[in-house]
Amino acid sequence: MKTKGIILAGGKATRLYPITSTISKQLLPVYNKPMVYYPLSVLMLAGIKDILIISNSSTLPRLKDLFGNGKHLGINISYAEQEKPNGLAEAFIIGEKFIGKDNVALILGDNIFFGHGFSNILNKAKNRKTGATIFGYYVEDPCRYGIVELDKNKKPIAITEKPKNPKSNWAVPGLYFYDNSVVKIAKGIKPSARGELEITDVNKIYLKNKKLSVELLDRGFAWLDAGTYDSLLDSALFIRTIEQRQGIMVGCLEEIAYKRGFINKKQLLERAKHLNSVYTKYLLKVANEKI
Ligand code: TTP
Repeated sequence: MKTKGIILAGGKATRLYPITSTISKQLLPVYNKPMVYYPLSVLMLAGIKDILIISNSSTLPRLKDLFGNGKHLGINISYAEQEKPNGLAEAFIIGEKFIGKDNVALILGDNIFFGHGFSNILNKAKNRKTGATIFGYYVEDPCRYGIVELDKNKKPIAITEKPKNPKSNWAVPGLYFYDNSVVKIAKGIKPSARGELEITDVNKIYLKNKKLSVELLDRGFAWLDAGTYDSLLDSALFIRTIEQRQGIMVGCLEEIAYKRGFINKKQLLERAKHLNSVYTKYLLKVANEKI
């Protein structure tokens, strides 16, 4: 069975106004790449080649300009519109035809992940044929997030959206893997008090059916969501620090495509020809096996 991928890249980005009054959050730069490169890189790292990007009508043309059909990256990208930010779980309703009979991973367009061993964790989640996998990330300020409570064997016992009195510090990042029943589950849930189809409600159903797994992201792992002025700047500085120190890029799509065997050396070099920046020089290094 195949796993497809969805990037949800709509939303209003009210917390980033006025920066986002004429441009989508997901197209803003995070250091040297548009933000949406990072979540796309995660799906590609997971070996997912069929990807649906969901966004609003004004942003979709820009995203199509950016990625086209994905052929240059050896993947298939299609697009769909979310008319209003009706909630994360709406992605599975909009994406029903795209998902077909397959499993699906959802990642939010403003989530950035970086850490050792991430590909293995992603593979573990993808290789679970049934049920759902969410991730847990230990945070200082759990009130701001969806939180998963764990028993002493680190198994999930409850999930709460933005709890006032959190019983755990394990936040649930915007990356989720589901079996095909997610479509039916998403269609069955009702909008919450804030009028959204909540991903937390979907996850609660998997939990109730004892079909929810949690992968904990270790100490030292970075999960950033670039949704506020400060987190946008922090993310950029974080990426710059890692990249300058190691000379290795985070979220370089062509590099991942090449190393995963989605494109060959000729295609990688072809891509480098069309660009003129430090990014291009990096692609040449990758092609010459220097990275
Ligand atoms: P949020 O950060 O919750 O919402 P937002 O991006 O509109 O920002 P703000 O809170 O500042 O108004 O969304 C997280 C990600 O999910 C972001 O990449 C946008 C995306 N999203 C959608 O595409 N559709 C939706 O219905 C929702 C709720 C979010």
